[in-house]
Amino acid sequence: MPRILVVDDEPGVQESLRMLLKSEGDVAIAGDVDAALREVALATPDLILLDLVMPGRSGLDLLAELSERGVRAPVIVLTATNTVNAAVEAMKRGAADFVTKPFELDALRIKVRNLLEKRELEEEVERLRDEVEDRQQFAGMIGRSDVMRAIFRNIERVARAEATVLISGESGTGKELVARAIHDLSSRSGGPFVAVNCGAIPRELIESELFGHEKGAFTGATERRIGRIESANGGTLFLDEIGELDPQVQVKLLRALQERAFERVGSSTTLTVDLRIVAATNRDLAREVAEGNFREDLYYRVNVVPIVLPPLRERREDIRPLAESFLARAGTGKRLTPAALGSLEGYSWPGNVRELENAIEHGLALSEGDTIDQQDLPISVGRTGQAEALREQWRQGERSFEETVVRFETEILREALENHHWNQTRTANALGITRRVLKLKMDKLGIEDPNGEGNS
Ligand SMILES: Nc1ncnc2c1ncn2[C@@H]1O[C@H](COP(=O)(O)OP(=O)(O)OP(=O)(O)O)[C@@H](O)[C@H]1O
Ligand SMILES: [Mg+2]
Repeated sequence: MPRILVVDDEPGVQESLRMLLKSEGDVAIAGDVDAALREVALATPDLILLDLVMPGRSGLDLLAELSERGVRAPVIVLTATNTVNAAVEAMKRGAADFVTKPFELDALRIKVRNLLEKRELEEEVERLRDEVEDRQQFAGMIGRSDVMRAIFRNIERVARAEATVLISGESGTGKELVARAIHDLSSRSGGPFVAVNCGAIPRELIESELFGHEKGAFTGATERRIGRIESANGGTLFLDEIGELDPQVQVKLLRALQERAFERVGSSTTLTVDLRIVAATNRDLAREVAEGNFREDLYYRVNVVPIVLPPLRERREDIRPLAESFLARAGTGKRLTPAALGSLEGYSWPGNVRELENAIEHGLALSEGDTIDQQDLPISVGRTGQAEALREQWRQGERSFEETVVRFETEILREALENHHWNQTRTANALGITRRVLKLKMDKLGIEDPNGEGNS
């Protein structure tokens, strides 16, 4: 079902449009610009119906915000006859069409249908294009999962706009890589990309690091220093680990972001800059705001376009292409055995892509022939991935079905027995089978208690 967003403050209009359009798609309603932006952040609409005159910010503001966010859904402007000029203005700013209130219901429905159909065709073309290109690589990033491909599309779209981007994700998920991609694909790519790790710089130094200082601004300031904000002029400023920023510096940064103006420490001269902000965090910033650790106003300044990188364990399809590209990069010609690949695919990767990169290096260093096997991988990876390794060997035809099942059962029984210190009664209880059945299975599979005969 296409998603239709109705933005209008009048309950009467909201209701009649909901009734009219419910046969055309899923209708969401927003009563003002902020609510509309929240809806858009939740799910990109396929069509927007927009009232121009609303309390608070106007529909024209919303149009500007949408284009800044790279939202390309067609917009039909709803207007009273006396605001037709505004509608013309809206068309100039990218609205697809307009209707005057009170609406002719049938005419409106037809406009909606036509635009949705057109949009569907465009999406289809785009999808086919993506399929042809089979985007597994994008600006130096690898990913074949649907989430990563959606992120690639999002980056491409947002890079062209000027909006501030907040990238969040666990450590090692590729936040910095995304930040660089945004810069490289933007119109600022000719300018500098300046990264500041807000978490790594001591509190006393961060201010002068960001804003710079004049000679003599404080003890030890023997030279004038140009801050990172100033160095990023004309380019992109990457505020890494922004959640770690000291509250006092948050205030100053907020102003610099709002006004694109700041002063060096120890100077009263205001300098202006032209830069794009990309921020990253591995914390849940919304929660930090709720807990009072991060300023709400700064949060809203920074979180204009959110990009959320999922942990690697939630996109296991990416593991193999990533591993293969890291191997290829090493240029040794070594390959992964199916068992090793299975382990990689089965492991939980708390350190995400960075940990995978390290595991491959580990494997390269330890392997002897031209293959990297399970035992060449870091212990944590090799062990946790047993089951997946078995499955992969089965997939590749290295083991029969029978053998795979037997091995799998053996693994599980062994693990359960070990967990219960080889106490058969407790193990059987935990597995929900009788002790007699457990014993039979152990005999059949050749599992023996290393401490001697079965203590129950
Ligand atoms: N999709 C990807 N394709 C290829 N390499 C990747 C990908 N994602 C991450 N990497 C690599 O993994 C490593 C970690 O990435 P990056 O430094 O961007 O992560 P991060 O999210 O910024 O981590 P941290 O929170 O620890 O700073 C880098 O070496 C990067 O090149
Ligand atoms: Mg990083």
